[in-house]
Amino acid sequence: MEARYPSESQTILTDLVLTGETNSLNNLFGGELLARMDRAAGIAAGRHSRRIVVTASVNHVAFNKAIPLGSVVTVEAKVSRAFTSSMEVAIDVWIEDRQSGDKMKANEAIYTFVAMNENGNPVPVPPIQPQTELEKERYDAALRRKQLSLVLAGKMKPDDATELKALFI
Ligand SMILES: CC(C)(COP(=O)(O)OP(=O)(O)OC[C@H]1O[C@@H](n2cnc3c(N)ncnc32)[C@H](O)[C@@H]1OP(=O)(O)O)[C@@H](O)C(=O)NCCC(=O)NCCS
Repeated sequence: MEARYPSESQTILTDLVLTGETNSLNNLFGGELLARMDRAAGIAAGRHSRRIVVTASVNHVAFNKAIPLGSVVTVEAKVSRAFTSSMEVAIDVWIEDRQSGDKMKANEAIYTFVAMNENGNPVPVPPIQPQTELEKERYDAALRRKQLSLVLAGKMKPDDATELKALFI
């Protein structure tokens, strides 16, 4: 299969924070943001693989900044690495300053998706070729994140997580 670029999977969802999507402090409810990120990341993984995809794991989420009611929120997702049937998707969340229009990074996350055939079995996906410095950094770190996720899920022995272990030695 021919390699694709991360930019080919780029997915950008922009939407408002409405009442009914907030917590008691009038900030965006965490579960609502997780759902928006899942949608954007799923579309990105689908664009890369051109297959049905399912969320296999939420590897990392950092709710760094509260997102107030009325904010314009942009969720940007891109496949950062493709393995055999799984893809890591990196997600950045931005909020816009209403007056200046400047964008401020609010949150980020890493999700893993698996491409499936019509029978619900994992199928291979095209490789990916990172281009920008950030894409290369995310590509390089993705194998360690996959190993950590598999170890935590009890699907890999810690001893087999060679690249992850190398971080600590
Ligand atoms: C995701 C799922 C297909 C993995 O099943 P599995 O039996 O572990 O399948 P496999 O061992 O063939 O793994 C398939 C791929 O998923 C990866 N994977 C599985 N669990 C993972 C995890 N926790 N973290 C990262 N990758 C994971 C495997 O490493 C493998 O990747 P590779 O082919 O690129 O090497 C299966 O658990 C599933 O269907 N889950 C439900 C998904 C779903 O419905 N999501 C919506 C939310 S409810």
